[in-house]
Amino acid sequence: MYIACVSRGGEGLTEFGGADVSQAFLDVVEQAAIACARTMGQGDRHHSDHVAVEAMRSSLDHVPIDGRIVIGEGERDKAPMLFIGERVGQALSGTHGLPAADIAVDPLEGTNLCATGGPGAIAVLAAAEKGGLLHAPDIYMEKLVVGPKAKLAVNLDASVSENLGSIAECLDRKISDLVVVVLERERHQQLIADIRAVGARIKLITDGDLTAAISAAIAGNATHAVMGIGGAPEGVLTAAAMRCLGGEIFGRLVIDTAEKEARVGAMGITDFRRVYRSSDLAPGQRIIFAATGVTEGPLMKGVRFFGEGCRTSSVMMQTETHRVQFIETIHVRAQTEATEFRF
Ligand code: FBP
Repeated sequence: MYIACVSRGGEGLTEFGGADVSQAFLDVVEQAAIACARTMGQGDRHHSDHVAVEAMRSSLDHVPIDGRIVIGEGERDKAPMLFIGERVGQALSGTHGLPAADIAVDPLEGTNLCATGGPGAIAVLAAAEKGGLLHAPDIYMEKLVVGPKAKLAVNLDASVSENLGSIAECLDRKISDLVVVVLERERHQQLIADIRAVGARIKLITDGDLTAAISAAIAGNATHAVMGIGGAPEGVLTAAAMRCLGGEIFGRLVIDTAEKEARVGAMGITDFRRVYRSSDLAPGQRIIFAATGVTEGPLMKGVRFFGEGCRTSSVMMQTETHRVQFIETIHVRAQTEATEFRF
């Protein structure tokens, strides 16, 4: 059992978005990251995911909210925990008067990255007041993600060349100075060719377009845009992060079969060509986004274990506070007289 600094909310005392809620969410992503980081490099992505899910589910019990999972591990019949619609939080154990919250989770974003020790695996969640996060189907989404400076100058229907020209202009640099992150997939061959044709640089990643998207919205990371098709649930989590960082995701669901049309239609989505922006995917007034590095990444270090415990590196942001925190936490199993905290 690790000791982590969490203040537990008392009955009726908490307001969604308050410091005790965000601190408890930080604990949730830290515990998920610690659990799956133990499995790093063991080659079993399902096991890595499973331990992250279990750790995240059990720490969510301590969050002073009446929570409901809107993006999770799938529908109830497919996932035993963190399924869509599952109630989580202290309200489950009978505490009354807690604020309602919708929660999007990805206990391990980048399961392959964890299984292989590759860079950029994170444990992540976003929360908002009820109705503040879109319940997106688990299908693909075409995405374009940029930081605050370029968000008004690009759009999903413009050509790659036009968008990169606009981003370069907004960032006051040449197209050849830009770095675009793209998931290395067969389906992106044309996209990659188009980016190469205009001379921008490309960072191909094997997984983890959410981590890349956060990097694109924080200046100084040598990442200026994310382009291509990835998961729609990750798109909602990206939107939550963008709402906090002032960046933008443009996303369009990839509905390419009759079965997907039916699924998406059943969720009440009628405009299949709609381009969603951050405020459509994450419309909440009070959004909290928390992520902890599992493996080494561009913004967060991976979990580092030592004899008495471990050290985690996280990002915590909220729309209300206009604050982005990079948080290093040292977790010790049991503090003794001789326990030494190291900088
Ligand atoms: P997992 O965490 O489920 O392994 O997903 C990782 C990821 O790379 C996402 O970052 C990305 O959005 C999606 O998978 C891409 O899907 P696919 O691997 O099917 O191309």
